[in-house]
Formats: sequence, structure tokens, C-alpha cells
Amino acid sequence: MSDELNKEIAKRRTFAIISHPDAGKTTLTEKLLLFGGAIHVAGAVKSNKIKKTATSDWMEIEKQRGISVATSVMGFNYGDYKINILDTPGHQDFAEDTFRTLTAVDSVIIVVDVAKGVETQTRRLMEVCRMRNTPVIIFVNKLDREGRDPFDILDELEQELQIGVRPLSWPINIGAKFKGVYNIYEQGLDLFTPSKQTISERVEIEDVNSPLVDELVGKSDAEKLREDLELIDGVYPEFDVNDYLAGKVAPVFFGSALNTFGVKELLDCFVKIAPAPQPVDALERKILPTEESFSGFVFKIHANMDPNHRSCIAFVKICSGKFERNVNYRHVRSEKMMRFAAPTAFMAQKKSVVDEAFPGDIVGIPDTGNFKIGDTLTSGEQLHFKGLPSFSPEMFKYIENADPMKAKQLDKGIRQLMDEGVAQMFTNSFNGRKIIGTVGQLQFEVIQYRLLHEYGAQCRWEPISLYKACWIESDDKEALDAFKKRKHQFMAVDKEGRDVFLADSNYVLQMARNDFPKIRFHFSSEF
Ligand code: G4P
Repeated sequence: MSDELNKEIAKRRTFAIISHPDAGKTTLTEKLLLFGGAIHVAGAVKSNKIKKTATSDWMEIEKQRGISVATSVMGFNYGDYKINILDTPGHQDFAEDTFRTLTAVDSVIIVVDVAKGVETQTRRLMEVCRMRNTPVIIFVNKLDREGRDPFDILDELEQELQIGVRPLSWPINIGAKFKGVYNIYEQGLDLFTPSKQTISERVEIEDVNSPLVDELVGKSDAEKLREDLELIDGVYPEFDVNDYLAGKVAPVFFGSALNTFGVKELLDCFVKIAPAPQPVDALERKILPTEESFSGFVFKIHANMDPNHRSCIAFVKICSGKFERNVNYRHVRSEKMMRFAAPTAFMAQKKSVVDEAFPGDIVGIPDTGNFKIGDTLTSGEQLHFKGLPSFSPEMFKYIENADPMKAKQLDKGIRQLMDEGVAQMFTNSFNGRKIIGTVGQLQFEVIQYRLLHEYGAQCRWEPISLYKACWIESDDKEALDAFKKRKHQFMAVDKEGRDVFLADSNYVLQMARNDFPKIRFHFSSEF
């Protein structure tokens, strides 16, 4: 393995920031870019935010998403580190996109609003992190506003996110009386001055018992801080970076992204403790980033909504070796060799053609329909990456052809949209009808519009009352056959031909679980 490759890998940190909408993800992203020198004024990253819009106005959302291609991956240098932030859509109807993006990162930062605590979206995203043991750092935001007691927040984080927590900084008051944070990790006092552009003032102190602390924050707040820190030491075990890397304990920071407060401390700790690109599991074997041969997988496909330019960008996460422009690589699914003349990378908010990229990096490859989510590219080896699960959708509709002359176009359109990961399709084994499953109402509108405008096909939706689709399996073939026979009206197959049970209510699902103990029910396609 070459020194160059090792060096490049060691300096990379590829992560995503996740949060419930409005907790401050965009603001934090922007401030991180500010520190990386990737932008120079606050307010430059607003475009990646999908504003709250009526669900019917999805074109507007798509437009905003279109702009967000540029911010899909934000690369910048910080000291000796090369940082790649992968953006995740805030709108919950695009949660599936976010799940897939999480398969391409080595760690995440979760932003939580101090007044609201853990919200639904955060809980769901954390489930995905837990499945993969992704290391997590938590940033409790908006300390400049009135909020909850920090100890309560820690309890809630631990319970709701089912992960151990360890505060590495601690707030002195909150809201109007917020004075700053004590940095447990580096033993310093960061004093708060509300400002959107300047960085907080750091006072180095020997330890929290220093009289300087009383002088700076006042006697009673200093006392309270000391008591809190004692309590923290008593309740939470000392921070062990290995527990963090194993996804067992999440370090917690407090701050105010809007006021650029606590952000630099977060970033400084992050680059030190967050993992460099990690080994990735392929079906065949584990792939180490340091291997000389290139490998990577497509985790996201972004379609151009302009019907005159029907191109897409396939986002490839590099897992091992060096990726080079104009070199032949094997597209494993199609068995074709391909070379890419214009792969792009995303640095400092600019998208430009790159000659090479390393593990941890994301390259965007212009595509006209060759790629599917989950596709593997390699220097030659037959590899299939695991870990791009589909999740049990939340909404279901039958899709019907509304223009019999265009059946072929409809089939092709549906197939390609499913390959892009817009939604999931199940075929009912009983009546052969096709069911589209999504995480939000928006996707149905997106599909209908795109089928018409990109494929000239028309579809019609028909209601179906379903609660969940879950993948089933069993070691006992007889039990599986018996289940399928009993539930034959509610059986379907996914795009890979795997068995899926369509439960029309939670009650039915529970009964099925009770009645068929030998069947395993899964809510994600990977098990
Ligand atoms: P999101 O990407 O997670 O959805 O959240 P975003 O950063 O857009 O932040 C949501 C709102 O919270 C924004 O206000 C933002 O200015 C505010 N905010 C973020 N961090 C802090 C903080 O530390 N303190 C306070 N007080 N507010 C914060 P908005 O009014 O919705 O948007 P804008 O009009 O200010 O852009």
C-alpha cells in the first residue's frame, strides 16, 4: 500500500449532519464551512434547505432540491484534514434518501434543539445509525434561547436515542442568562457573546476551581458549574474514544450555531476523534480503504428535473484505492467496463472536474441511466457492497396504466425511477398488481409527474389500505410455505424477488407474528 494513499485516507473525515427540521442543521453546516474557509459570509448555504411547503407544491421542493445538488457534498480543508459533509434532505418525505446517505458516511453529528429535545425524525435517523454502529456526536443547539435543563436533555438523549452519552462541554445557564460553556474535553472556558460572525472567546484556565472562573461568570454560577461537573463525573463514565468509535457512547456538546458558539470546539474535537474512512463490507469480503485497487458504490442518484436534459448525477462513495479520471473501471452489475471523462468533486462549494479521488471522497458521475442505487464500480474485482437497505415504506398505492398505448414507456419509467431509489415497488403475488410504497405523499406526485414528462407515460393511483410491508424469511421452509399459503392474498415480491408480507393493520401484523413464531419479519430489506 502506498504512502500517498495512507496519508490521504488518514486525513479524511466523511460525515453527515442529521436533525429534525429546524433544529439548526443548515446553520451548523454553514458555520463549519465558515471555519473551513469554504465560505466567507454567513447565509451562503441556505439553498440546501427545503422550506416548509404545502405537500402539493412539490415542484418548488424539487427546484430547491435541484439547487441542492451543489450542496449534496461539501468538501473543505480544515488544518490537516479534508472534510466531506454529506447533506441530507430535511423534508421527511425524502427520509429514504437520508437513510442511504448514511450508508456512505463514517460518522454523524446529530443536532438537537435544546428546547425541543429529541424529535421524531432524529429518532428514526438514529435507528439507522444504530443498525450500522455509526459513531455519533451530539450538538445541543440554541443555548441562547430558553430551553430545558441540560441534565434532562442528557437523560432524554440516552433514553430516546438508546445510546450512552458523555458531555464534553457544559453550559453555564441558558437563554437570556447564558454565559458560555465550560469545555470539559480541553479544560477551558468559552465565554458567550452573541454574534453571528465572530468566534467565541476562549479563556484557558487550569481547572474549574480556578478563582478566574468566579471572576468571569460570577460566584453563584461558578459554584453551580462546579457542582454540575461533579455530578457529571459521578454519573457518566470518563469519555473513552473507543466507546464512541464503536457507536456505544455519544459525546455531547452544547452551543449556539447561529451565534457561532461552541462550533469550533465541536469541529476541533470532531477531527481528532471521528473515524477516518472505515472498511466496508461487500458480500464477498471486507474491503479495506488502504487496498490499492479502486472500489466504490453508488449511494444516491440525483435526476435533473429539466426534461430537455434528462441526465442524472450518480454519487459514488469511494471505498478503497484511488479513483482516477479516464481509467477503465468495471461496472459489476452490467459487466461492462466504463471510463469517466468528467467526474466531479465538490470542494469549497464549487463543483469541478477532478482527476483523482480517495477513500472517503464522493465523486459525481454524469449518467444517462446506466446506474442504479447500490451499483458497484471496481478496478476489476467482482464485488457487491452490502448496506444499502430499503426500509419498509409508510404509504402505499396501486399504480395503474392510464394510457394503454404507452405500456412499455410506463414499465421502463417505473423501473428506472425505482432504480434511482425514488420509491419501492412490490408486485402482489395474488393478483399481479404493482404497488408503489413511499415514505411520503410527495413521492407519488413526483413519480406521476416524472413518468409523464420524462417517459411520456401516464399513471393513475388507486388506493390500497396497507399498514406495513415487511420482508419475511424462515429457516423452516414448511413454515414459510404455510405462511405464504395462509396469507396468499397479502403476499408480494420486491424488485429482487424476495418475499414481502403486506399487513393491512398493526393488529394483523401482531397476530401473524404470534401465529407464526418460526417466521422472521423484517422492516428493512437487509437482514
Ligand atoms: P434545519 O436546517 O435543521 O432545518 O435548521 P436551520 O439551520 O435552518 O435553523 C432553523 C431556525 O433556527 C433558523 O431560523 C435558524 O436561524 C435558527 N437557529 C439555528 N441555530 C440557532 C441558535 O443557535 N440560536 C437561535 N436562537 N436560533 C437558531 P429561521 O427563522 O427559521 O430561519 P432564518 O429566517 O433565520 O433563516
